[in-house]
Amino acid sequence: MEKISIADKMVNFMESASWIRKMFEEGARLKKEYGQDKVCDFSLGNPDLSPPEAFQETLEKAAADRSPGVHSYMPNAGLPGVRDKIAIQVAKDHEVEPGGDEIIMTCGAAGGLNIIFKAILNPGEEVIVPRPFFVEYHFYTDNHQGRLVPVDCNDDFSLDISAIAEAVTDRTKAVLINSPNNPSGAIYDEKSIEELARLLERMDKEKGQTIFLISDEPYRKLVFSGYHVPPLMKHYKNTIVTTSFSKDLSIPGERIGYVAVHPEVHHKALLLGALNLANRILGFVNAPALMQRVVAEVASQKVDTSIYERRRDLFAEILTRAGLSFTLPQGAFYFFPKSPIEDETKFVRTLQNELILAVPGSGFGLPGYFRLAFCVDDEVIKRSEDGFKKAVEKSLSWTRA
Ligand SMILES: Cc1ncc(COP(=O)(O)O)c(C=O)c1O
Repeated sequence: MEKISIADKMVNFMESASWIRKMFEEGARLKKEYGQDKVCDFSLGNPDLSPPEAFQETLEKAAADRSPGVHSYMPNAGLPGVRDKIAIQVAKDHEVEPGGDEIIMTCGAAGGLNIIFKAILNPGEEVIVPRPFFVEYHFYTDNHQGRLVPVDCNDDFSLDISAIAEAVTDRTKAVLINSPNNPSGAIYDEKSIEELARLLERMDKEKGQTIFLISDEPYRKLVFSGYHVPPLMKHYKNTIVTTSFSKDLSIPGERIGYVAVHPEVHHKALLLGALNLANRILGFVNAPALMQRVVAEVASQKVDTSIYERRRDLFAEILTRAGLSFTLPQGAFYFFPKSPIEDETKFVRTLQNELILAVPGSGFGLPGYFRLAFCVDDEVIKRSEDGFKKAVEKSLSWTRA
């Protein structure tokens, strides 16, 4: 038999992640066969709103800058003036006072997570994550020889602190949280963050080893009326934050974000040095220069979140009328309803037959649910109502048969 020259691990990963490819291929086929405007595609978390006007204006100004060196290599952590401005935003979000030295500009939150794991993980060390979670976390921890340890949340997708406590072992290096959450839309409230912080402090003492709290927060500014994303650094000093401007400024293709470390984090100089080196040797070298200069000026801006909120409310009515149950998203732009039948992949296929594209919960570590991204036009949401009703009726008829 011919020997495969591609890494076994990558071949296996491609197979395990093949549902994403299959979904994509199936979506493309349906759009070709029935027409783009007939398919309701809720499969991708690709923001559809235009970036704020201030972003566009700042970009144009920055692009016109012809000063010597504007396109040069720079320190791996990013442009010093930019990092100072980002530190001001982190201070507002987290209620501590980091300096620019505690900020590393990155290629998105994905780049941020990879440099964090590279900086802190020894082979076999564990990262606890509440499920459901962003599918790429598995790959990112594996990239750096770590192991992801998913734990259950409560039924409403809030943090189950005792489940996290039970999962801690001598190999635990970090707890990774993402709030507002992809895919559930849940925001972990301040009380649960305080409890988590106290747990980690206790464990740090008991185990004699730092357990980092990593907060992946690209949806921090996409929050609906009545909700608020609490500060984290204020509650726990061994916190590392990573985020990006992908969702709040609607610029995911520009690959710009940052990592911020608490000013009193354990072994701060070593950690910052490791993050810096990781940015360089993972091949990012530094975050894109032009985008660094732009986001520094518009770091407090965001897209009009009332549009996402309007869509959330519209979608909630439609899903309710179709007989689906869900926890109302508090932020981000995803619904994560319960599948009306146990096998959610079968339900997702039934939705496909109605020209509705969704993603099975198995992909987020939680079978029995499915994800719907509502970064699509209101018309697409409205058009989906009949399809949802038919798919639910069909699925329930099997359970009755
Ligand atoms: C929870 C979460 N973390 C990280 C990322 C990666 O963000 P970025 O594209 O800014 O690197 C995403 C992207 O969808 C996400 O949903």
